[in-house]
Amino acid sequence: MLSNRVKLIKPSPTLAITAKAKAMQAEGIDVVGFGAGEPDFDTPEHVKEAAIAAIRAGFTKYTATGGIPELKQAIINKLARDGGISCEPAEILVSVGGKHSFYNLAQTLFQEGDEVIIPAPYWVSYPPMVTLAGATPVIIETDEKTEFKISPEQLNRAITPKTKAVVLCSPSNPTGSAYEKAELEALAAVILDKSIFVISDEIYEKFTYDGFAWSSIASLGPEIRRRTFILNAVSKTYSMTGWRIGFAVGDREVIAAMNRIQDQSTSNPVSISQKAAIAALEGPQDCVTIMLREFEKRRRVMVEGLNAVEGISCLWPKGAFYVFPNVSALYGRKFGEKTIDGSTSFTEYLLDSARVAVVPGDGFGADGYVRLSYATSMATIEKGLARIAEAVSRLT
Ligand SMILES: Cc1ncc(COP(=O)(O)O)c(C=O)c1O
Repeated sequence: MLSNRVKLIKPSPTLAITAKAKAMQAEGIDVVGFGAGEPDFDTPEHVKEAAIAAIRAGFTKYTATGGIPELKQAIINKLARDGGISCEPAEILVSVGGKHSFYNLAQTLFQEGDEVIIPAPYWVSYPPMVTLAGATPVIIETDEKTEFKISPEQLNRAITPKTKAVVLCSPSNPTGSAYEKAELEALAAVILDKSIFVISDEIYEKFTYDGFAWSSIASLGPEIRRRTFILNAVSKTYSMTGWRIGFAVGDREVIAAMNRIQDQSTSNPVSISQKAAIAALEGPQDCVTIMLREFEKRRRVMVEGLNAVEGISCLWPKGAFYVFPNVSALYGRKFGEKTIDGSTSFTEYLLDSARVAVVPGDGFGADGYVRLSYATSMATIEKGLARIAEAVSRLT
């Protein structure tokens, strides 16, 4: 019954563990959830007000497929303000979240025979979306030694005549690592030399720590700007994951083609959410600073707490709101009759015996690790860390 295309796609492991944790919570079990990929803050009041005003004003009909002109202008202003990047409305497509932006881009840019380079650990949805477009994901492995970042040599080696693009996610989900400007310059040189494209997923750009100076690869000069597709969204920055507004910025011919796909599939992103996104991008930004300060404190407690557990080692992430500790030293240890033999069995062990939900690294292409989100309260973090420490100490 099912198409061959859909048979290639596995369910998202992130959503699977969150669903299991939620089911346990619904049964009244007190589960500490570190699975969530979204800020625990409420959407800022002025953003909600803009949406309410839009409804009251009857702004509830179809809009231009690729986003209303005022929202495109707000995106233009944002790019100029944050990265000194100038662009025009025809270079922007607003879609139903950052994921939809990647999907439309993949459908537009990739086809059978193309290779798309994806550094691992990667956001779980990149490989399936590349596969759905008929292309082949080519994975470059990284580990803690390079803070999970690819080198220009690695990129160069992975490029073949079939390579169409490389995907960069900085700061990264799941590792929280982020590329310095000089590192981006070195990668840009390879990208230009080999005439491939770069997809720069900048959805966590506003969440960086310890004074890290974030930059977009597109800001490094007109040549690399022409080879870059920027993907971003209001989802994480403004705690608006449910509003579903993301956007892509790049070559106008590609953007126009993406617009055609959107025309014939979803049409415009929600009219009300578009008005809310304008308020988010153009309004006061202190809501972002408040979240960032809180994440910074939690990150400290999380990293120090995990590193205090024998068998777990965790880097200090430069950004996003995830930690990605190495738990492979625990593999081979036992609980009862069972042996921890990878990130999935470790995750199951934590959920079943410690009532802590984390996400197995396997789905991110890194089985030695698990992902924990610190977009949850400090009290929850402390409780969860104590449970993890206790559960690990029970392994033999
Ligand atoms: C790296 C990355 N890119 C894109 C997205 C998509 O975000 P959304 O579709 O909610 O805007 C996510 C969400 O988890 C993400 O982690």
